[in-house]
Order: sequence, then C-alpha cells, then structure tokens
Amino acid sequence: MATTTLAHYFFLVLIILSTLWPAAINARRPFACDPRNVAVKDLPFCKVNLPIDARVRDLLSRLTLKEKLGLLVDNAPAVPRLGMDEYEWWSEALHGVSNVGPGTKFGGAFPGATAFPQVITTASSFNTTLWEEIGRVVSDEARAMYNGGAAGLTYWSPNVNIFRDPRWGRGQETPGEDPIVAGEYAARYVRGLQGNLPGDRLKVAACCKHYTAYDLDNWSGTDRFHFNAKVSKQEMKDTFEVPFRQCVMQGKVASVMCSYNQVNGIPTCADPRLLRDTIRGAWRLNGYIVSDCDSVGVYFDKQHYTATPEEAAADAIKAGLDLDCGPFLAIHTQGAVDRGLLKETDVDSALFNTLAVQMRLGMFDGDSTTALFGNLGPRDVCTPANQELALEAARQGIVLLKNHGPSLPLSPRRHRTVAVIGPNSDVTVTMIGNYAGIACGYTSPLQGISRYTKTIHEPGCPDVKCKNAHLIKDAMGAARQADATVLIMGLDQSIEAEFLDRDGLLLPGYQQELVTKVAKASKGPTILVLMSGGPIDVSFAEKDPRISSIVWVGYPGQAGGTAIADVLFGTHNPGGKLPMTWYKQDYLSKVPMTTMDMRSNKASGYPGRTYRFYKGPVVYPFGHGISYSTFIHTVADGPALFTVPVDGRHKYLNSTTNAIRVTHAKCGGLSIGLQVDVKNVGSKDGSHTLLVYSTPPVGHWGPHKQLVAFAKVHVPAGTQQRVPINIHVCKFLSVVDKSGIRRIPMGEHNLHIGDVKHMVSIQSSLLGVIKS
Ligand SMILES: *[C@@H]1O[C@H](CO)[C@@H](O)[C@H](O)[C@H]1NC(C)=O
Ligand SMILES: *[C@@H]1O[C@H](CO)[C@@H](O)[C@H](O)[C@H]1NC(C)=O
Ligand SMILES: *[C@@H]1O[C@H](CO)[C@@H](O)[C@H](O)[C@H]1NC(C)=O
Repeated sequence: MATTTLAHYFFLVLIILSTLWPAAINARRPFACDPRNVAVKDLPFCKVNLPIDARVRDLLSRLTLKEKLGLLVDNAPAVPRLGMDEYEWWSEALHGVSNVGPGTKFGGAFPGATAFPQVITTASSFNTTLWEEIGRVVSDEARAMYNGGAAGLTYWSPNVNIFRDPRWGRGQETPGEDPIVAGEYAARYVRGLQGNLPGDRLKVAACCKHYTAYDLDNWSGTDRFHFNAKVSKQEMKDTFEVPFRQCVMQGKVASVMCSYNQVNGIPTCADPRLLRDTIRGAWRLNGYIVSDCDSVGVYFDKQHYTATPEEAAADAIKAGLDLDCGPFLAIHTQGAVDRGLLKETDVDSALFNTLAVQMRLGMFDGDSTTALFGNLGPRDVCTPANQELALEAARQGIVLLKNHGPSLPLSPRRHRTVAVIGPNSDVTVTMIGNYAGIACGYTSPLQGISRYTKTIHEPGCPDVKCKNAHLIKDAMGAARQADATVLIMGLDQSIEAEFLDRDGLLLPGYQQELVTKVAKASKGPTILVLMSGGPIDVSFAEKDPRISSIVWVGYPGQAGGTAIADVLFGTHNPGGKLPMTWYKQDYLSKVPMTTMDMRSNKASGYPGRTYRFYKGPVVYPFGHGISYSTFIHTVADGPALFTVPVDGRHKYLNSTTNAIRVTHAKCGGLSIGLQVDVKNVGSKDGSHTLLVYSTPPVGHWGPHKQLVAFAKVHVPAGTQQRVPINIHVCKFLSVVDKSGIRRIPMGEHNLHIGDVKHMVSIQSSLLGVIKS
C-alpha cells in the first residue's frame, strides 16, 4: 500500500513538474551549424563570413529532393544529417507576441508578453515614431522568447489590408481605410520589428498580409474561402496594392502572405502576375512569399481551381509561392515533379527564398552566446518600460468624438462618485482584441477609474450581446446616486472577429436602450465610452444632449483601463483621430460587402467607399477627433507653382489626360514643402495630428480628396510650432487612371488642412502638348 502511495506520489510530482516546467525545459531555440557538430560546422553553408546566397546555394546542393519537399511547409522537419533543427515558421505578433500561431507558446519563464492595443487603436495615434517603437519592443520580446525556445523568428504580422467595409470582422487588425496611412504603418511597424540592421540581417522577419483584396470573412452566404473579389485595374493600383508596395519597398519586409480569396477569378496564391511579377519582380521583395494557412488546399478543395492536387501544388510554386502554411505542398509536390508539372529547380527557387531569410536571421550561425540578440531573455519581457509603452500607445490612440459643455475632463474633486456602467466596464481580454497573446497583466476600465475616484459599478447588460434588459434598472439606480456616469459599451470578439463579419453597425441588443435610459436617470454628466474595432452608428448619442461626451477607445490593450481613466480625468489630453469613416446604418443597404469598388457609381446608385470616394452623411468622418485644447493652423510657406521635371525622352503632354505618367517623371526626391504653423489656443498642452489632404484637378477619375501627408506635433498651451510637411509628388499627388496607370495631373491641386487651403499649380518641363 505504502509503496503504491509512494509511487503514486512520485508520479504526481512528475506530472506537476512537467506542467510547471513547460516544453521549454528541453526546448532550445532551433538553429543549425552547431560548432560542436564536427560533421557540419565547417561546411560552406555554415560559414558566417560567406555571402548569404553562396551559403544557400551550398546548402541546396546538399539536400535531397525529399528533404527539400519537407522544407516547403511551415512545420519544417529537422534534417539531422545536416545538423538542421525542425522549425515552425508560423508565429504571430500583430500587437505583441501572440500564441495564435503554433510557433509560440507561453509558460515557464515566459508566462506572458506585453499586449499592446489592437492595431486600429495604435493607428489612431497617427504617430509614426510610436508605430516603429512598438515594433522594436515586440521584437525584443520575440527574440527573448526565441532564445528561451518558446517562439520562432518568423512573424506573420502585420495585417495591412484596407478596412474597406465597416462590417469586416478583422478591420480591428488593420491600420484603417486609407492606403497611405496603412502603407506608412506597414513600413514603420515592419522596420521596428525587423530592426533595420546593417548587411541584410534581420532581428525577426515580419510579413505583410493578406495579399490582396482580402477584406471579407463571412458575410451573407459568402466566405473568404470561396470569394472571388472583382477588382478593376484602377482600384487595384490606387487602393489595394498601396500598403503592400510600401511595406515591401520602404519597409523592406522579409515576407508577404497571399490570401484565400480569388482576385478576378484566380486564387492569389496561384497568380504569377501578383506574386512573381508584382511582389518579387516590380517591388523586388527580398524574402519569401507564404500562403495563408492552407490556402493552396483551399483553392483545390473548396474552389476546385485545379483538377488535381498536383496541379494545385505546381501552380502555387510556379506562381512564386515559397512556403505553404499547411501540409499540402509537402504531400503533393513530389507528384507534381513526377508528372513533369514542376522541376526540381522550381523547388530550389522557393527554398532559396526561405533559407536565405533563416540565414539572415542568424539561424545558421550556430549557438554561440554572441549570436544576434543572444543576450535577450525572460527579464526583457514585460519590463516596466515595455508595459509603459503599451499604456502610452493606448493613451495616444484614444479618440474624443464629442465633448459638449465641455463635460470632460472629469475632476476627482467635483465628481466624488462615478457610476461605471456597461458590459465592457470591467473587461480584460476584450481589451486586447484578436491575434493577441497572454498579457503581462491588465487594468480594466473600472480599476482605472477607481484610482481617481469612488465608483459604483453596474454591468447594465449581461454581456455585449445584451439580449435582455433586466439589468437596466440597477444601472439607472447607480446613475441617480453618482456625480457623473461613465458607460463603457461596444463590441467584442463575439460580434466582430475572424470568420465573423457584422450584419449591422448599431450597438447590439439592448445596449442603446441602456445608454439612453441611464443618461436620462443620471444626476451628473453622462460619458459614453465605446470599445470596438469597427465603427458604430451612435447617431442617437451624438444627438442626445444628455450624453455630453463620447470617447472611442478601440481595443486599448492590457493597460486600456488606465489610459481611459487618464483621458476621462484629463491627465492625458486626447489627440487620436479616426482612421476610418463612421458610416450610418442605412449606408449598408446600398453597399453589398462583396462589391469591391471604392468609386461611387451614379448610374447604379452605389455610394462609394471611404472618405476618398463616399460623400454622403456620416456619424463621424475619417480623421475626426477633438482635444481638450483648440489648435489653429496657418500655412506659413509653400510654393504656388511647382514644375515636375520629365525624362528627356518624353517630349509631349497628352492633352486628353492633361497628366504625365509617373514613370516619365524624374521622381527622385521630388517633393513639395509646406511650412505649417500650429497654434494651441487652449489652456492645456496637447499633441495634435495635422492631416494634409489634396483634391486633384481631375474630376471623375480621382478621389475627391486624398490624404497626402500627416504629422503629429506636441504643442504646449499658448504656444505655436512650425511643422515642416513634405509631400512626395509622384507618390501622393498622382492619380491612377482607368487602365491602372499612375499619372500626375497638371493644374491646380488644392491642398487643405481643416479649413485652411493652399493651392499649388503643377506644370511639367515638357516641350509641348499632343492632341489625341
Ligand atoms: C459562415 O457563417 C455561417 C453562419 O452565419 C456558418 O454557418 C458558417 O460555418 C460560416 N463559415 C465560415 C467559413 O466561417
Ligand atoms: C509619439 O510617440 C512617442 C513614443 O511614445 C512619444 O515619445 C512622442 O511624444 C509622440 N509624439 C507626439 C507628438 O505626441
Ligand atoms: C492620351 O491618353 C489617352 C487616355 O489615356 C489615350 O487613349 C491616348 O492614346 C493618349 N494619346 C497619345 C498620343 O498618347
């Protein structure tokens, strides 16, 4: 009996130990070229001082076809013969190291990682320094976890698809609806993640996804696995490809992911014009192209794009796909080679791109303690400084939408008791949105507000769906007793998520009734705080004089509650701006989610999409966001006339378009400089985002306005700052014509910042005009 008990006891201890000590105790970071491995260490592919392409060629020459085929998938097996560990390519770091991909696991020495706000919130800061800084911190934590055997080095983030339709469940993951903001976000975040190191080296490898025209998950019987996005050449160039191009060309990203959907009848992962010609050819990607998870399988099984799986495999690799997330290519590529659909050299080209990235990451440099970032470890994760940056990002991303009175900021002296109401008032994981990890810790909104004043808490609804009204009475009771009422409402992943697009823009269930009744009962001012990724039609609250203030916080991350309280009580002056249009509910009836067109169409009554093309009524426009201060702009200096030099081979201007092709202009360094004075005429210091738009002189073929520059500036109360603005003429003042050609229109470009205008007339150095 005793021995059994003892054995039992030991067994229990083992179980406990193995759960406390996660896999990480045996796990070490995957790498190759271990200096102790004498059979391998002196082979050319292990020689750190040889050029990377020579090392890759050497390694390829040693691999058998069977070994190569194994390396075509994310869960790449070890090649013990050559001292290569197995490697899981799929890790995620959209806004903090995440365990959504199998490459990353929390536990043991790494119980969590800093959970930054969801991207839509961080985008609202319009602060490019912050975007890059977050990338830097996330990659520090990622490297630390890799060193501890808990994470990979290849992160399939960021998501830079255009937030085209307000219903999209994944809009929260994106930097919003504007292609230029999305492109700038992509380049900055990627630079932060990848470390911007000399000699092609990578701190971690980022990935811009999902290429392209991917922005529908599951709407009204159409899902992303079956959707064929019909996109004109003009919209493709003008909107969908802009962030990807910027990500590759400026951000120097090490990877691009193709999407599940088809574009104009061809699955993106099988389209050589998209992958081989555009990403690798025109944009010169230095890195690898990966499929979305199982998208090769999806276009075979679900879209029936090819008759056999071997053809599906061959099409993907020939189109320029280098790595399959999923097993499909490991299973079917041998058959494709056997049938002559594919040559071994095609497989080599794909592997060249993935192996080169692993080498640039230092994965073939052995296990020396001097390895790239080898000093980072558990103490570098969730540091006070990293967590402070998550808080700062949340503060900078919060958008003040309405402040009547003004009733905000609240004051702990006058508002001694605050009623904190709503289904999102005491949430934690809701604040980190999707593609998150395990946070270092949380401060809920209720906890944040409680640090400033006494609170009375009532949820008001059982959850965000708020399917019944029985908690409303108690919430009204709380509002009657308090000096101010803060309602924290909105959405969560049960309403908007991957696989789940919304079917409307209103607050779910009885939420609106709760807000209205509580505002009516409230003794003091009523503040509505909205937590959501997508826009919400809160016209009722905008109009209701009893709801004095409205604040949108997106999904503000692990420190969201502190940031919300800091804004409500005025220790932080809000400066965020909406990165997407807040449409009214009835807009939806005119725009099927499946219609990709951005431009409006008078004949069909289609209203167009985003602030660039839609001119109808909105709840709040793109760029909206107020402050506790008032900022005034004046253009201090800027040219009235600007000449675009044209390559001497092109002598004439086409009189039909009255525009010159960007490819004919001498674009290098060609920019229009403005000096804008920003004066803070309020009584609080604050940061202000200058949004500079242009209305081009092209009538129907361009957007009616387009953001061409933005800058964030801190201006102390009562002072003025001069902000230099540079507008890259070829990139930002050009417009794409119907055939997909980018041209710079000649004539008056109307640059505007709020109510302030500056006209600049653009002419070219061409000799004459040709009539067509
Ligand atoms: C799409 O949503 C429907 C219900 O609305 C569900 O039955 C279906 O499984 C979903 N499809 C996908 C691919 O998520
Ligand atoms: C932008 O963010 C950085 C990093 O948090 C911060 O130091 C800086 O003050 C911000 N810029 C402005 C103008 O607010
Ligand atoms: C001028 O542009 C129009 C519209 O793109 C085109 O149809 C025409 O051929 C061009 N004319 C010349 C002479 O290139």
